[in-house]
Amino acid sequence: MYVFLTIVLVIIFVVLLTFGLAGLSGAPWVPTRRRDVARFLKLAKVKPGDKVCDLGCGDGRILLESAAIGAKAIGYEISIIPLVLVYFNRWRSPYRDQIEVKSRDFWQADMSDVDVVFTFLVPATLGKLSRKMAKMKPGTRVINAVWPVPGWEVVEVDTEEGQAPLYLYIIDK
Ligand SMILES: C[S@@+](CC[C@H](N)C(=O)[O-])C[C@H]1O[C@@H](n2cnc3c(N)ncnc32)[C@H](O)[C@@H]1O
Repeated sequence: MYVFLTIVLVIIFVVLLTFGLAGLSGAPWVPTRRRDVARFLKLAKVKPGDKVCDLGCGDGRILLESAAIGAKAIGYEISIIPLVLVYFNRWRSPYRDQIEVKSRDFWQADMSDVDVVFTFLVPATLGKLSRKMAKMKPGTRVINAVWPVPGWEVVEVDTEEGQAPLYLYIIDK
């Protein structure tokens, strides 16, 4: 009985720890609403053959919808519950071959050849991440949900009444 209880407590501790780490290093898990996923695809003009990267992919909803229109989708995630969900969602998706999930910190992401980057992260993280994203290839479209990238010149803002704003940037060097 004590062994079982200890195992359960350790599992709860590890799950909470990964939630805490994700909250500190990027943002806590708050999924993008379904209708905002459609707005993202439209604003980023995601097309077949694009390489789309979601930094902190949660349950993978951005990946699934991007893959459904023919893109190759890559997601990074470190929190255990979203990771379990994104692997499950990838497994049941008919487009699973176009989806790659990396159970890894997005600070280690190789973004040298991506066409579209999606983030839904807090401003403090975006500030630091902007230095990494600025090194991406010219023409890469960056979409941030809810908050703008500090110091970057926005190309377009999608502000639908009552919806979260989506900010579009295009890397230009
Ligand atoms: C606000 S949620 C957005 C989830 C998803 N992109 C969506 O739009 O539904 C932020 C996600 O980033 C993940 N995250 C935070 N820091 C991270 C890091 N350093 N590396 C990978 N994922 C991270 C969190 O676990 C969380 O799932």
